[in-house]
Amino acid sequence: MSYVVNHSRLNKWVHEVAEMCQPDSIYWCDGTKEEYDRLMSEAVASGAATPVSKRPNSFLFRSDPSDVARVEDRTYISTTRKEDAGPTNNWIAPDELKAKLTELSTGCMRGRTMYVIPFSMGPLDSPMAKIGIEITDSRYVVCNMHIMTRVGTKVIETLGTDGEFTPCLHSVGAPLAEGEKDVPWPCAPMEKKYICHFPEENLIWSFGSGYGGNALLGKKCFALRIASAQAKREGWMAEHMLILRLESPEGKRYHVAAAFPSACGKTNLAMVIPTIEGWKAECIGDDISWMKIGPDGRLYAINPESGFFGVAPGTSHSSNPAAMDTLDENIIFTNCALTDDGDIWWEGIGTDAPDHLIDWKGNDWSPADKTPAAHPNARFTAPAGQCPVICPDWEAPEGVPIDIFVFGGRRTSLVPLLMEAYSWDHGVLLGATASSETTAANIGAVGNVRRDPFAMTPFCGYNMGDYFAHWLAMGERLGDKAPRIFYVNWFRKDAQGHWMWPGFGDNSRALKWMCDRLEGKVGARETAIGRLPHKEDLDLAGLEDYAQYIDQLLEVDVEGWKSELPGIISYMDRFGDRLPERIKEQLQALQERLG
Ligand code: OXD
Ligand code: MN
Repeated sequence: MSYVVNHSRLNKWVHEVAEMCQPDSIYWCDGTKEEYDRLMSEAVASGAATPVSKRPNSFLFRSDPSDVARVEDRTYISTTRKEDAGPTNNWIAPDELKAKLTELSTGCMRGRTMYVIPFSMGPLDSPMAKIGIEITDSRYVVCNMHIMTRVGTKVIETLGTDGEFTPCLHSVGAPLAEGEKDVPWPCAPMEKKYICHFPEENLIWSFGSGYGGNALLGKKCFALRIASAQAKREGWMAEHMLILRLESPEGKRYHVAAAFPSACGKTNLAMVIPTIEGWKAECIGDDISWMKIGPDGRLYAINPESGFFGVAPGTSHSSNPAAMDTLDENIIFTNCALTDDGDIWWEGIGTDAPDHLIDWKGNDWSPADKTPAAHPNARFTAPAGQCPVICPDWEAPEGVPIDIFVFGGRRTSLVPLLMEAYSWDHGVLLGATASSETTAANIGAVGNVRRDPFAMTPFCGYNMGDYFAHWLAMGERLGDKAPRIFYVNWFRKDAQGHWMWPGFGDNSRALKWMCDRLEGKVGARETAIGRLPHKEDLDLAGLEDYAQYIDQLLEVDVEGWKSELPGIISYMDRFGDRLPERIKEQLQALQERLG
């Protein structure tokens, strides 16, 4: 170890974990480039990583085929009382869960190095930042954490002798016997994977998976599940939201935070390049937003992460040019396909598949094969600072003031392109009733409607009914400084299955209408479900191909909404007495407006 740690609670925890997990050695990470380079060369030497020679300092990892995504079925919120985790979370009592994890973890790091990663979520000089310590036996995790969070000795200095930190314990759950050769991607079988959160004591304990949100514990586990529970207690917000800055031709800035379920183009919108004259957009974050009320009474947001862990398939120069330009160097690719000339490839990258590839399982692949060459959840891990449209203020310690909240989902029918909430409470209802149709990337039959309130279903670390109440309470505190709330749906299709809206850069047209609403430049049509745009107020120049659809995109199908209501009401009923009265009132009002 190259630095001294004088924090007794931290030292004690690391010591206890080492006693239990019995690693061969302990290594404290310093976050330097030398450390990253050394770990990567070790990963390459061991066969776990392959250099992507076309992209400087970039590497490809292939996971075990059984360990390819977040495992929501194996994810737990462990509170003393089951009802505090609520009906949307898996629950096991803390004592029972810890006993199970202790049994699994005893000796689980044998034959491996135990890495201790001090990291900060948020810029270290931000009053909103929070510190975590991840212990892991995965080199891949250390390298990803270097990109996704701020790792280093500065964090230890900031902690001092008694600073607050969230302990995040991770093991791939694959101890090595004496002399046993390691596999490229060690992990435990599904029934031994446990992604566990103890929000009452800010503890994360993840066992058995090396992939993404199961293993990079700063992201979903800390910055959303644990942080959402902290935020509720402390009066701030931890949300599954991108953050972007829009600038009008007059130079006026607007900050937008938007929540969408997975597979709804969140990373694309975060890096949107507006197609409308004179408008500019800059990315602040693509996945998570931490927000606090500032001294002026407005809501300020930071992106707690420092990288993007983006879904690769479908990312192309047409869907997301800024993301593509972020990927030139210093990238970790996971489960992408590899070309013969040393580059990566995935479905939807915008070029035809070459005649030969090595697929995500490490096998020869040709276009005649029926299976995808890259896994549908293949990822890139990229430093945010490399994004060509990153906002110069993306690391501002005080954050940026949010003007607009956007909710949305993927619905091929019924839900209009764009609407504004009548009030904060109505906006909370829009967030709470957000829904999306399942795609190949989700579990369940394709095309099923799933309710995903605030896109937080897999990420809310406490009872979702209480979470709605927290949103209502924040609105009260914000008063007339509260961001305005909008709902969008980019995914309508006509009877023939054609997209009715171009999406991508043209989504800036919807964003412009929101800004115009804030400025009072445009009116709106009051309908049963919300305030909808007058067609003439949308900037549709150049969208002739879609002109035939615009009326339909802005139509309110009252009968269709009436049929939607019972599903919404039965979804809300599951929260029982935790469902706030004000949500019930909003539902009632919606029902009355529909007649
Ligand atoms: C993600 C997700 O990976 O929401 O960000 O699934
Ligand atoms: Mn996400």
